Amino acid sequence: MAKSESSVKVGSVSSDGAIVAQGVVKTYDTGKVKVEALRGVNLTVNKGEMVAVMGPSGCGKTTLLNCMSGLDDLSGGEVLINGKPLSQMKDRERTRYRAEKIGFIFQSYNLLPVLSSAENVELPLLLGGKTPKEARKLALEALKAVGLEEWSTHKPSELSGGQQQRVTIARSLVNRPEIVFGDEPTGNLDSESSKEIMTLLRKLNKENKQTFIIVTHDYNIGRLADKIIMMRDGLIEKEFACSPY
Ligand SMILES: Nc1ncnc2c1ncn2[C@@H]1O[C@H](COP(=O)(O)OP(=O)(O)OP(=O)(O)O)[C@@H](O)[C@H]1O
Ligand SMILES: [Mg+2]
Repeated sequence: MAKSESSVKVGSVSSDGAIVAQGVVKTYDTGKVKVEALRGVNLTVNKGEMVAVMGPSGCGKTTLLNCMSGLDDLSGGEVLINGKPLSQMKDRERTRYRAEKIGFIFQSYNLLPVLSSAENVELPLLLGGKTPKEARKLALEALKAVGLEEWSTHKPSELSGGQQQRVTIARSLVNRPEIVFGDEPTGNLDSESSKEIMTLLRKLNKENKQTFIIVTHDYNIGRLADKIIMMRDGLIEKEFACSPY
């Protein structure tokens, strides 16, 4: 496995990237019961900051990520991206904002098994209208940034779990998003690979000044962020800064 982490940047990002939740409420109505998943969450994440969201299962971490990223509608409150309320964006603008400004890293890798690492990474670029030549160049740069330049022709089944997660990180970051959301991005990895992935995310966060909001159950991962947000029962219970990393 290519362990060394290259210092190549995934790309420069614009100066925006701050995200604010103001009194965010999310109620799921399943017909029989109403679940108050978020009960008035206030959170400011500054540009270039890395925040870890922690708390017990069911406390609303995924819901908060989905609401802040515009994947899910709010029941109340507001989310501001670079000062602009998400609710004031029309559907098309919101979709474009998600495609261009936001990256997602999920727990399951969601890589297409028949495609190589490079093909998986370049797919969103091709869908976004880049030429195959441009897309391949950017995909190879992104794979290099995650230390996988020698694995570009390999298919997911030929890679370890940690390597597959690196490919998904390259794919999430290849279009140079301002804000990256991760829902337990290391959830399927052993502790050593988890730390490696988190160290890599931290490096990309610092080099590219991208904003990161990462959900994790693992304090050893959370403490590598700038601050930890502890949630409980749909609210932020406390927020504390981590020691400099
Ligand atoms: N689509 C949905 N429909 C109904 N209820 C939902 C839905 N999604 C989440 N919930 C409920 O909202 C609450 C918060 O769920 P959420 O998935 O945000 O928790 P979480 O903190 O991410 O938990 P975990 O650590 O287990 O992933 C839970 O009570 C959950 O059952
Ligand atoms: Mg969750």
